[in-house]
Amino acid sequence: MASVGTASVGNDVKDLALAEAGRKRIEWAERDMPVLRAIRERFEKEKPLKGMRMSACLHVTAETANLARTLKAGGADLLLCASNPLSTQDDVAASLVAHYGISTYSIKGEDEHSYYRHIAAALKHAPNVTMDDGADLVSAMIFIALGRLNDVHPEVRTWAAGLSTADRAALVANVVASMEETTTGVIRLRAMEKDGVLKLPVIAVNDAQTKHFFDNRYGTGQSTVDGIIRATDVLIAGRQVVVCGYGWCGKGVALRARGMGANVVVTEVSPIRALEAAMDGFQVKTIAEAAATGDLFITVTGNIHVIRAEHYALMKDGAMICNSGHFNVELALDDLSKLASSVNKNIREFVDEYVLKNGRRLYVLGEGRLINLAAAHGHPASVMDMSFAAQALSTEWSVKNKGSLEHKVHQVPKEVDEFVAALKLQTMGVAIDTLTAEQKKYLESWEMGT
Ligand SMILES: NC(=O)c1ccc[n+]([C@@H]2O[C@H](COP(=O)([O-])OP(=O)(O)OC[C@H]3O[C@@H](n4cnc5c(N)ncnc54)[C@H](O)[C@@H]3O)[C@@H](O)[C@H]2O)c1
Repeated sequence: MASVGTASVGNDVKDLALAEAGRKRIEWAERDMPVLRAIRERFEKEKPLKGMRMSACLHVTAETANLARTLKAGGADLLLCASNPLSTQDDVAASLVAHYGISTYSIKGEDEHSYYRHIAAALKHAPNVTMDDGADLVSAMIFIALGRLNDVHPEVRTWAAGLSTADRAALVANVVASMEETTTGVIRLRAMEKDGVLKLPVIAVNDAQTKHFFDNRYGTGQSTVDGIIRATDVLIAGRQVVVCGYGWCGKGVALRARGMGANVVVTEVSPIRALEAAMDGFQVKTIAEAAATGDLFITVTGNIHVIRAEHYALMKDGAMICNSGHFNVELALDDLSKLASSVNKNIREFVDEYVLKNGRRLYVLGEGRLINLAAAHGHPASVMDMSFAAQALSTEWSVKNKGSLEHKVHQVPKEVDEFVAALKLQTMGVAIDTLTAEQKKYLESWEMGT
């Protein structure tokens, strides 16, 4: 427990002595987050989240710290834990505790036990509002409420086993709403809704246009290439880069890799997206075809085992493989281990060398976890400004509508999306036109033709 002023702040962070470096990083990010700052200033006055206990399972980065400050300014009693074992910025986590008085449970490189112990801490906080990036927190709550304790990690199970049936049900019943940050999380939550087990309202923040159009595309695009360069120092120009998945993230990664001179190949399973990639000027191939020629492979599909044994077996000596999708399931790393005669971990930071029985060497970056957060600093603040503004405003909206939201996945209200976009444009000094009365009437009528 760290002491902040008179308050005691629960935490499990790497080293509180890192706090000053973290504060500088948080303040630097804040300079590029004017929309979130404006929301924080209003929240400070209006306290729309007063009385709310909140648990957020997010990547603990400088940008997230600014969201956390905003939620706290709104009156929330907030606890933050990591949504990925490798994405925490330890100095930021320390500063959140020491300077901002926010309970934080996350350590970069934490093992599975620590990861779930931290999720258990978020559950023990008995939240009224939750926020997830990948739905690990909500899915643990749902498993507990359903009494399916064998499906939760032992670190969560031990605690949940001590709760009465009524307390397990109350854990979910007390939640006013949950916000979800990423595509993979929304997919999991929709699957829960379909199976009739989603026992709380969820706001799909990922699906806001001001989120995925920009964060998934430009944020993931830039930071994924950044992570690869930091991990390897290789020249991108002239290499064949294979991007698996041409969704919002894949489009950004392909665009930025091409911008740096790569010869980009896209693989897809959706005919529409494949067609889009082809018409955007990329080569489209199957992964089996691309495996033999690619120099650098990047998965961003949100799907499992996209690159498997039969693909590794075809790869060139020196090929590099990484993932920027949410979970580390896109690369079948067990297959790779089986094909290898030896594995040399950490031949440099974030690079593991697999020497295959056929003599070729393949390099896996960031252990197959999202490379932009493992080896780089995640999305730039300017883009997270919009995503987190949508998070903060969706939280406010769901608290205002407490008790009246159905137990399903809700869209972010259109007015939130439009407000965030308009304010972002304003902070960028960009003005746009407004409809004249004549144009408005024209767009609303069907009577005028050729
Ligand atoms: N690294 C980050 O910081 C970051 C940021 C945002 C989202 N994400 C994650 O990235 C992943 C993708 O997100 P998105 O918003 O682009 O999703 P999306 O649904 O827009 O795109 C995914 C694409 O992958 C394709 N796909 C599925 N299986 C495939 C396969 N076997 N081979 C080739 N293509 C396949 C789909 O057809 C789809 O076009 C998700 O896991 C999401 O949570 C990561």
